[in-house]
Amino acid sequence: MDAVISKNDYIEIVDRLRNDCDLNDEKLSLLLHCEDTEVNDYLYSQAREVREKYYGKNVYLRGLIEFTNYCKNNCYYCGIRAGNNNAERHRLSEEEILSCCDLGYELGFRTFVLQGGEDPHFSDDTIVSIVKNIKEKHPDTAVTLSIGEKEKDSYKRFFDAGADRYLLRHETADREHYEKLHPADMSFDHRMQCLRDLKKIGFQVGCGMMVGSPFQKTESLIKDIRFLQEFRPHMVGIGPFIPHHDTEFAHKEQGGVQLTLRLLSIIRLILPDVLLPATTALGTVDATGREKGLKAGANVIMPNLSPTQVRGKYLLYDNKICTGDEAAECIKCLSMRVEKTGYRIARSRGDHIFLKNEVEKNTKML
Ligand code: 5AD
Ligand code: FES
Repeated sequence: MDAVISKNDYIEIVDRLRNDCDLNDEKLSLLLHCEDTEVNDYLYSQAREVREKYYGKNVYLRGLIEFTNYCKNNCYYCGIRAGNNNAERHRLSEEEILSCCDLGYELGFRTFVLQGGEDPHFSDDTIVSIVKNIKEKHPDTAVTLSIGEKEKDSYKRFFDAGADRYLLRHETADREHYEKLHPADMSFDHRMQCLRDLKKIGFQVGCGMMVGSPFQKTESLIKDIRFLQEFRPHMVGIGPFIPHHDTEFAHKEQGGVQLTLRLLSIIRLILPDVLLPATTALGTVDATGREKGLKAGANVIMPNLSPTQVRGKYLLYDNKICTGDEAAECIKCLSMRVEKTGYRIARSRGDHIFLKNEVEKNTKML
């Protein structure tokens, strides 16, 4: 390619990405770094068209229940890592988790995401019991687990108990980069194995990475994109890296909003039917970040359903938004924000489009 790249060349790159769901490394790298407003707007508009083709104007809600911020790991970027003695720890009881779901159900949520650190206090038996109880009480909801790396047998037990989905961000598909973000007792291979196991078991699987995390190179992001193309997750969660003051990365630079938005669009174009959240991290670095995310191809929002008194404790990064609001307030605020973007909140489970029919069939058989 010529050294000087015209606007038209960039537009052609976007068109090619939309048509082929693919680009070579060189073109991907150009697009990732393109800061031209017109080209970016064009990229977002293409991503929007594709998301609307599959999911219309719907934005799906996931009620996030952060039920434990105890964690046995020490990821260098994460505010709730085991080594952070300043983190105020909390766990919700089984009853508290269930009452969050009851409240969420009243508010219209049909997906609950149980998210926590890797907390050995919650045995597989307890997780199984929580999942069964939620599904028994609210059979028309989806339960998503986001509780880190486990062995395949444990994942299978959660699935058999009724869990529908599992979120486990891969964090980076670049092994060397992974090793710079995590201590030596964490394994890139094990994380990838977990993702493969989850998919094989039958979960709708979400992976994802932070954007602009320390030591991330363009090459790392290209590896992420290649991984997504090969693994074909049902969901991809991405958000900017945000430093947390009590971590090794306290003084590292924050991830960029524009790069995150471009990546959202690129992911939408390589995986047209993917479920793609506009994340809280994106809303934290930019007051209208989530709206911008929706306009760049995202179609999921994950408001917090945790009880207000514990919300301020699940702090993976600094300045996290929505830590003081009641769930009902968050929903009102979000509905307004979503409507302003021209989209609407859908009060359904919001399954991946190609699994939806199957799920509906199974729900009817219950
Ligand atoms: N900034 C942004 N995202 C973070 N996460 C953890 N720490 C940070 C941070 N400092 C993300 C990770 C994790 C998810 C739950 O939150 O990607 O998988
Ligand atoms: Fe908890 Fe990384 S610090 S999983």
